[in-house]
Amino acid sequence: MRIVLLGAPGSGKGTQCKVIVERYGLLHLSSGDILRQERSAGSELGKKAQSYMDSGALVPDQLIIEMMTKAIKNAPSSGFILDGFPRTVKQAEELDKTLAKAKKIIDIVLNLEVDDKIVEGRITGRRSCPKCGAVYHIKNLKPKKEGICDKDGTKLVQRPDDTIEVVANRLKTYHQQTEPLVDYYKKAGIVVDIAADKDIEDIKTFMFQKLDEIN
Ligand code: AP5
Repeated sequence: MRIVLLGAPGSGKGTQCKVIVERYGLLHLSSGDILRQERSAGSELGKKAQSYMDSGALVPDQLIIEMMTKAIKNAPSSGFILDGFPRTVKQAEELDKTLAKAKKIIDIVLNLEVDDKIVEGRITGRRSCPKCGAVYHIKNLKPKKEGICDKDGTKLVQRPDDTIEVVANRLKTYHQQTEPLVDYYKKAGIVVDIAADKDIEDIKTFMFQKLDEIN
């Protein structure tokens, strides 16, 4: 199964991807996580991406397309879920071309819909584990011990782009450049709209139902 997860920053893409990959044995390909790994490693790509990410702008298409095409080509036959890619129509067109060469298509697009006001609270309250990537929230999804990862005891951190100012820019970027993708995929008839203002568990149940129908 090949899935695209669409949604604004903080709509819950990363949170829901974790449970989807566990249930369906898919590869989780998060463009944001890959970029953050490149930055930690101090690679050329990481250095080039840094200023765009910190300001809430998109990293140029050419860099992202190359990075994600490579990751997709190495994905297992069970499939993958794309989180944060594509983010522009150009990226979606290039993704389609890459898949077409392998006689494959995107099977379903899960579109997480949530109001900008809710996003601000979710993002500024997010904390994550720099070691294992587990994601928490200071109110909605608290770790057992405040500020410490349940899984490996590491001190939780806040992403540098999770400030109120950068979130505003990330949302603007989303509405201008990524939201048009909903129509792009609606033309292919593969979009499932999901009310992402609900509880994490309710969203998960609804998504599993839709994915079971096509699996
Ligand atoms: P990326 O890392 O992809 O960030 P994003 O899209 O802004 O998404 P987030 O990770 O912020 O949110 P999410 O939807 O995963 O929410 P989460 O589940 O964590 O991209 C970062 C940057 O990299 C971009 O700005 C750009 O510069 C660059 N980039 C990446 N991909 C690119 C591309 N393709 N092209 C160009 N540039 C690219 O949830 C958020 C919080 O809310 C958590 O604390 C969680 O616990 C909580 N939460 C989740 N769901 C719920 C719920 N239902 N109810 C209550 N709380 C909830």
